[in-house]
Amino acid sequence: MEVVIAPAEELAVLAADAVEALLRRRPRSVLGLATGSSPLKVYDELARRHEQDGLSFADARGFMLDEYVGLAADHPERYRNVIATEIAERVDWPAEQVAGPDGLAADLPAACAAYETAIADAGGVDLQILGIGTDGHIAFNEPGSSLASRTRIKTLTRQTRVDNARFFDGDVDKVPTHCLTQGLGTIMAARHLVLLATGRHKAEAVHQLVEGPVSALWPATVMQMHPHATVLVDEAAASRLQLADYYRQTYASKPDWQGL
Ligand code: F6R
Repeated sequence: MEVVIAPAEELAVLAADAVEALLRRRPRSVLGLATGSSPLKVYDELARRHEQDGLSFADARGFMLDEYVGLAADHPERYRNVIATEIAERVDWPAEQVAGPDGLAADLPAACAAYETAIADAGGVDLQILGIGTDGHIAFNEPGSSLASRTRIKTLTRQTRVDNARFFDGDVDKVPTHCLTQGLGTIMAARHLVLLATGRHKAEAVHQLVEGPVSALWPATVMQMHPHATVLVDEAAASRLQLADYYRQTYASKPDWQGL
């Protein structure tokens, strides 16, 4: 696991560099997309590169991490709509090439199974962008999630609903109680994991993710078992890391050509 500590703007550039390198090398790549605040600067940077440098998503596929259950099709916080607004419609990405679990399906377990099949049929995710919840969730794999889980329905914790109330007029009761989410096993099958975290409220989750024992209590810790995981954090999110100096030293002495 590589840990990079830098200001948020620099982290977004690094993540965008990794996405750009992949798309330039193989335009038909498969990207894994997170919602929430953490990846927004990355999406801004990718949209800028599309506009100014011709970075194209025309042949790429995209798979979202998760979706709320039951939000109306036109609800602005429905993750499909968020991803369309934040990235897909700002670049040349055909809507039919970006998929998410169907939180409005009549048969939710069948929709989850179909989503797993769709990801596998696309050849798997090349680069997965991730955020982390204050309770250590990735996607919506809340504490207690099986480390081998696949896409399924989950109940959101009170903490996550409180954290996400800011997207719902500050009203926790408007935040859905259930979601469909890629499982930890699904995420672990992606070839490169790139997680972004900023702010002191993420410091404990980041400490556990990088340095804690692997445990379903802090689901993101499963990333310690991944052969290519990159953790991009600002100083505040890094403030509880015990080996922060070592991570800084390691990154500072890394050759430029290596990328993330
Ligand atoms: C959303 C997702 C979640 C968020 C996490 C952090 O697709 O997968 O795991 O990444 O809840 O949210 P933010 O970035 O808003 O702090």
